[in-house]
Amino acid sequence: MSIELSEAQRAQLGRAALDWALKYFAAQSQLPIYPTVSAKDLSSLLAGSLPVQPEDLTSVMADVQRIADHGRHNGHPRMFGYVQSSASFAGVMGDLIASAINQNVTSWRSAPAPTTIEHQVIEWLKEMVGFGPQGIGVLMSGGSMANFAGLAVALRASTDIDLNQRGVGALPGKPRIYTSSMTHMSIGKAASMLGIGKDAIETLPVNNAFQMDAVALSSWIKADRAAGFHPVCVVATAGDVNTGAIDPLDAIADVCAAHKLWLHVDGSYERSPRDRRTSAAP
Ligand SMILES: Cc1ncc(COP(=O)(O)O)c(C=O)c1O
Repeated sequence: MSIELSEAQRAQLGRAALDWALKYFAAQSQLPIYPTVSAKDLSSLLAGSLPVQPEDLTSVMADVQRIADHGRHNGHPRMFGYVQSSASFAGVMGDLIASAINQNVTSWRSAPAPTTIEHQVIEWLKEMVGFGPQGIGVLMSGGSMANFAGLAVALRASTDIDLNQRGVGALPGKPRIYTSSMTHMSIGKAASMLGIGKDAIETLPVNNAFQMDAVALSSWIKADRAAGFHPVCVVATAGDVNTGAIDPLDAIADVCAAHKLWLHVDGSYERSPRDRRTSAAP
């Protein structure tokens, strides 16, 4: 049995999938947002023996329908959970094309055009948020991985010790990461994965607008340095997912500059950069 499809089969499958996606997009607002099915019933509905024989297109598309019927319909206009947006149809087509091109975006050599596009998108993002030409970046798969990568960079930048070779045990004091009580759980996870541990997270209380207090932050860092701790970075939040609160970024940046500390900003539920520039922080 071959998994290669003939040109005619590719065309048939492609048209069936596109047709299905178009109908699904049109129907989403009429569907119940959440399926009413138990985990047990769903397991038996979707279970089956290892498929070793080819299935015909009709039965494959029936499977697709059953899977979609028992998912949450994130594109429903009354679906307000999480920070998940509705799928965009342009994105659906983009995924299709990206899968067809099937690039290894590991380096320019492996994927010259996609790597160039990544750099271009970063330039556009810099322009959108008002970063200068000296800004650099990388696209990540999501917020948790971005926080992990940001903290990894901050950790390396916090010392001249070769952490690559010697590990975090060689740090001159116990590491400390400063953030507010509203911070996302992925910050703790990143600390854990980096081997510095969740105990390194110093959680500052917030004011009644759910923002970190930059003055308290400054005194905290000073006291920790005096006590022999090793401050790694400050993690500010720009748009906490629960409240939409934005920490006072300028004041926190000043504290970080004064203490020569890396500032990592975890951006999530942000207003548009234009709104941010025209409205004073509370
Ligand atoms: C402030 C903040 N940071 C990080 C994340 C994690 O993002 P992701 O779910 O893409 O890993 C979220 C997710 O809601 C978030 O709100």
